[in-house]
Amino acid sequence: MQQSRFLMCPPDYFEVAYEINPWMSVERLVDRKRAEAQWRAYYELLSGPLDAQVELLAPAPGLPDLVFTANAGLVRERIFVRSHFRFKERRGEEAHFEKWFKSRGYRVKTLDLPFCFEGEGDALSMGEELYTGYHFRSDLEAHEQAAGILRSDYFALELCDKRFYHLDTCFAPIDSQSALVFFPAFESCSQMILWETVPDPIRVSEEEALRFACNAVVAGQNVVLPSGCPNVSKELEKRGYAVYALDFSEFIKAGGAAKCLVLKL
Ligand code: ARG
Repeated sequence: MQQSRFLMCPPDYFEVAYEINPWMSVERLVDRKRAEAQWRAYYELLSGPLDAQVELLAPAPGLPDLVFTANAGLVRERIFVRSHFRFKERRGEEAHFEKWFKSRGYRVKTLDLPFCFEGEGDALSMGEELYTGYHFRSDLEAHEQAAGILRSDYFALELCDKRFYHLDTCFAPIDSQSALVFFPAFESCSQMILWETVPDPIRVSEEEALRFACNAVVAGQNVVLPSGCPNVSKELEKRGYAVYALDFSEFIKAGGAAKCLVLKL
C-alpha cells in the first residue's frame, strides 16, 4: 500500500483571535498546553504507528489558523492549486503556503479573483472523482477552475448549514466505495448527487456530526477521528478499518479537527 503523505503545521500560535465560523468565540479561551499535547499526539500517531510521512510548515505569529493546513489548497501529483480565503483574517496564510510549495518544486496555480477557494476544506477526492463544497467559503466558479487545472471531473455540492461550513465537516471519503456523510448539511439536489454517486454512504447522526465525526483522516487501513463518535467508529470497523479516536477539543473551538489539521500531499 502506498504511504500517505501529509502537511501539518505546529500550533505554536494557535488561538481563537477572531470569529469567522459559528464554532469560534473569542470568549472561549484555547488551552495552549492542551492544544499542543493534542496536536503532538496526533502528529506522533500519524508519523509513527500509522506510517504516514508528515511534512511540516513553520508556524507564523499572527496567523492562528495556519494549523489548519487542509485549507492551504489542493495537491495532485506535483501541482498545487493555492487557496484564496473568504475572510481577510486568513488571507495572510496564502503567501506562506505558496512559499512552501514553491520551494519544494511544486507547480503553483492560483485561481481568478474574486473567487474564493479554501483547498481541501472544500474539495476532496474519492477514487477518481473530486467532490467540492460551495456556499459559505468556496465559490462554485473556483471549483470549476481548479478541476480544470487538475483535469478532474467533479461533483459540486451546495452546503446549507453554517455549522458545517466546509465540506470536510460533513463529508469524508474513506475509499472508492464508502464515505461518511452528514446529509442534512447539503441542499436537497446535492443530497441526491451523494445518494447517486457514493456506492456506500455511511450516514452520520447530527450528534456525531457535531463532534466532527466527518472530519476524519484515512491513512492506509486506519482512520483517525475525534473521540465521542462510537457509531461512526463501529461502521468503519465493520468495513475493516482500525479506528483511532483522539481528543481535538481545543481545535474544535476554532471549528476544526483531524482532517482540517492535515493536507494530503
Ligand atoms: N478557524 C478556521 C476557519 O474558520 C477553521 C478551519 C477548519 N478547516 C477545515 N478544513 N474545515 O477558517
